[in-house]
Amino acid sequence: MLYCVGAFMNQNLTFPEGFLWGASTSAYQIEGAVRADGRGESIWDRFSHTPGHVVNGDTGDVACDHYHRWEEDVALVAELGLSAYRLTVAWPRVVPEGSGPVNEAGLGFYDRLVDALLAKGIEPMVVLYHWDLPQMLEERGGWPARATALAFADYAAVVAARLGDRVRLIATCNEPWCSATLGYLTGEHAPGRRSREGALAAGHHLLLAHGLGAQAIRAAAPGARVGIILDFAPQHPASDDPRDVALAAVADAQRNRWYLDPLTGRGYPEEGVAAHHWAMEEVLPGDLDTICQPLDFLGVNYYSRHVVRSPELPQQAPGLRRPSPHVTDMGWEIYPPGLTETLVRLDAEYRVGPLYVTENGAAFRDASPAPPFNDLRRIAYLRDHLAAVHTAIEQGAPVRGYFVWSLLDNFEWALGYSQRFGLVHVNHDTQERTVRASGRWYAAAAAAGRVAVD
Ligand code: FCB
Repeated sequence: MLYCVGAFMNQNLTFPEGFLWGASTSAYQIEGAVRADGRGESIWDRFSHTPGHVVNGDTGDVACDHYHRWEEDVALVAELGLSAYRLTVAWPRVVPEGSGPVNEAGLGFYDRLVDALLAKGIEPMVVLYHWDLPQMLEERGGWPARATALAFADYAAVVAARLGDRVRLIATCNEPWCSATLGYLTGEHAPGRRSREGALAAGHHLLLAHGLGAQAIRAAAPGARVGIILDFAPQHPASDDPRDVALAAVADAQRNRWYLDPLTGRGYPEEGVAAHHWAMEEVLPGDLDTICQPLDFLGVNYYSRHVVRSPELPQQAPGLRRPSPHVTDMGWEIYPPGLTETLVRLDAEYRVGPLYVTENGAAFRDASPAPPFNDLRRIAYLRDHLAAVHTAIEQGAPVRGYFVWSLLDNFEWALGYSQRFGLVHVNHDTQERTVRASGRWYAAAAAAGRVAVD
């Protein structure tokens, strides 16, 4: 019974030399200072200030006040010994009206931030769009309007020209699926619109923005490596019944392949287009070629998987595959094998790479109100997902780094400050930062380049 022995044995999983151990944040979720130094309004400012949109009426007005405390936060990343940090440039800080005049003060902020990271030997990964569209562009049509993609390319060129001599990794957009679906279909996120056609057009223009943006970045900063960040959630059929299997395939096309396939030159997945009843009128000649620019890397955000059951079948039946009851405070099933599955699939089916896990992490209430908060469940989550990454690497997936979501407790979109994802606890009244047990654990793993599992 060899597996019994193995189950009780401590094992060290060593990661490859040069593997990046990082943490992620995004601009609107941490910066605050929404009116400082000429920053323009974003759709999240407008949305969060509209009653009923965000839990407790929370807004990102102050968030983690990172705009004023960035030196302290860079020092925290350094104290944890992390080799990489993923940040977003806020479009409304750099081009306050979305297109037109550039705000030097906004650009200067990121310039100093990047220099400070590099001075401490921390590799910055810079994302250009993490959901904070300038409100002026939304008023001119937002992502459902093609002009927004063109404005993005101009903005991308400005940032790349300024930072691209030092920043090696630049990603255009974070999770276009969320921007289009939550922002324009379900209305849960800014700008809170609800339109099937609008969401499909938004998704296409986000992809076009990526393609035009990638061209603009390469023209302005030939040394930069250009990528995009997508979110993945495996869609598992609840049974072998062909109706479950077919529905899971459609869900996979709409959720996982919708952006990935056009980006890799395969066009939009047919079963997804049919299920969406999409006439594709926004897809103009040449668009699909623009979208599939060479990818120097792909960012992979992973939190969970979905189990798909056809509504035509009884919802209760013996032997059904079911999600495990172990969930984070977000209600997301904890399912580490889905991360291995995703990474291995990207390599085997798409040959896309290098890969970075650009977000993975968990919201949990702290086990103790006092430092270090004993967030043992977060440690277990991170350990098990890092082990899943290790398995993917062993199976040949070219994974070059892992970024925890998130460095700090922050503004979790429509859930406001009710969810805590941080390696570092933030007191939202005093802005005091305190490293959690998970932060210390992750620092030790990063320092050793390995993770102990049992
Ligand atoms: C991702 C977002 C990130 C954060 C995590 C929990 O979808 O990219 O900003 O909200 O979820």
